Amino acid sequence: MINAKLLQLVIDASNDGIVVAEQEGDDNILIYANAAFERLTGYARDDILYQDCRFLQGKDRDQIGLAAIRQAIRKSQPCRQIVRNYRKDGSPFWNELSITPVFNESDQLTYFIGIQKNVTEQVEARQRIRDLEDEVASLKAELAALKG
Ligand SMILES: Cc1cc2nc3c(=O)[nH]c(=O)nc-3n(C[C@H](O)[C@H](O)[C@H](O)COP(=O)(O)O)c2cc1C
Repeated sequence: MINAKLLQLVIDASNDGIVVAEQEGDDNILIYANAAFERLTGYARDDILYQDCRFLQGKDRDQIGLAAIRQAIRKSQPCRQIVRNYRKDGSPFWNELSITPVFNESDQLTYFIGIQKNVTEQVEARQRIRDLEDEVASLKAELAALKG
């Protein structure tokens, strides 16, 4: 059986952010954040404890993925969405966020676990491919027009 100290080391060795949040009214306040979360966001654990993670969105609150997250949380269901987040220094990153509810033996919601994966490179590469595809399509259309 793994002991609590080893488990702590394992969680802190993770490449992805791992947080635990507890429901408080309309918020889910952070009660734990691992070292990777600090590295990814630039925020020290002690600065963000007891806050809802929405502070990572800054003013960028009109994102489609957020509606799906809101709905899943309301229904205590798991969800995975890619959202735009901002580090403490204001730099943006794409966060593949996975949220899982945790229930106790009486089937009551106790916590949500959040896993934050930095997918900025993949999202930007996909965007570049889409831009190139658009360029090829318009060049093809120009060529077709030239051919008459
Ligand atoms: C455990 C957990 C982790 C979360 N992590 C993030 C996160 O890393 N980035 C983010 O933008 N939102 C995150 N959220 C979502 C926000 O906290 C919030 O639920 C979301 O913005 C929708 O609610 P709102 O419209 O009231 O802000 C997380 C939520 C939970 C429960």
